[in-house]
Amino acid sequence: MDRDADIGLVRRFLALHETRADELAPATYRQPAADYTSAEHLERERRTLFRGTPLLAGLSADIPEAGDYLTVSGDGAPIVVVRGDDGVVRAMVNTCRHRGARLLEGRGRASRCIVCPYHSWTYDLTGRLTAQPGAGDAFADVDRHDLGLPPVPIAEGHGLIFVRPDSDEPIDLDAVLCGLGPELDGYKLASYHHVETRTHVQVFNWKFVIDTFLEAYHIFSLHKQSIAPQYFSTGALFDPYGPHSRLIGVRRSIVELAGQPEDSWSILPHGTVHYVLAPNALLVHQLDHFELWRVFPLAVDRTLVHTGLYAPAAPDDERAQRHWRKNLDLLLQVTTTEDFPQCERIQADLAAGALDELVFGRNEPALAHFHRSLSALLSD
Ligand code: FES
Ligand SMILES: [Fe+2]
Repeated sequence: MDRDADIGLVRRFLALHETRADELAPATYRQPAADYTSAEHLERERRTLFRGTPLLAGLSADIPEAGDYLTVSGDGAPIVVVRGDDGVVRAMVNTCRHRGARLLEGRGRASRCIVCPYHSWTYDLTGRLTAQPGAGDAFADVDRHDLGLPPVPIAEGHGLIFVRPDSDEPIDLDAVLCGLGPELDGYKLASYHHVETRTHVQVFNWKFVIDTFLEAYHIFSLHKQSIAPQYFSTGALFDPYGPHSRLIGVRRSIVELAGQPEDSWSILPHGTVHYVLAPNALLVHQLDHFELWRVFPLAVDRTLVHTGLYAPAAPDDERAQRHWRKNLDLLLQVTTTEDFPQCERIQADLAAGALDELVFGRNEPALAHFHRSLSALLSD
């Protein structure tokens, strides 16, 4: 983050903090409950948001070496993202051209080639079919060149990797990021190291996972016993970037900056910076590491969630591994025992017809922006 911008954020917060104020949206926002419960709405989201739109597949740090791969199988055709021997990342359909077996699962290193588990058809890291062991002349009347893995549009930059499932349209990364690129460059995200990603299923709508992080207002209440002693519930700093946004939740430690010279200020040691990468990803800068949430709808009330942690240095020894894993444990403990149980009950009650709409306050501008942006993408 640029120094002036960094200092400006501290200034913005301290000004609000004098009166425990929030930056307010111009008006409250009415959010239809049906957007969380309607199967028809989900079908529209799947078609528009999860198939035609560029989605964050992961970070460059997920697949730093040649042969490293990461699968994306939340919705639509299964995709695998692979880094080639030339260092270039490619995305392709993760389905064998012979009889459709899934080629790779999860994440890992494919060394020099991708071998199908079913009959060992072998593809190189660019998706070309290179061998059909044991087949003899059985496929002699088909040109091998026609049996490569179909490519999927992909773009890598600023430490991020985007794919566009079910579309041939190339990805213009800077257009996708709507101005967030230079700020992300400041973190040198590509130099981070993937520690661990945990995959879990939650029984509520996918949007609730993102909603959970889009206001600090609930901290004093829901997180009274956990993080409220460290965080303010007021003064979170919100900035929109096209359909994306940045929301900074501020730690109480920031008040110590008030007596210090402005040119020594930085928000980063005192804030948790949430970048919503619409539609379904949330990248979080937390003091000395990054967390990444990627969410995919399985049904209107079932969501596949990937939660990953990235450290600034390779977690080479047991102690470093334990340290970062504990961070991830803590993050999942607070969200799964405090935030997500609320989401579960809200989902059930909305599905039962408890309310027609939710009301987002003027102090929850990031929530309103997220839902307004999804509506705009859906109506495009
Ligand atoms: S399905 Fe892959 S080799 Fe047969
Ligand atoms: Fe929370």
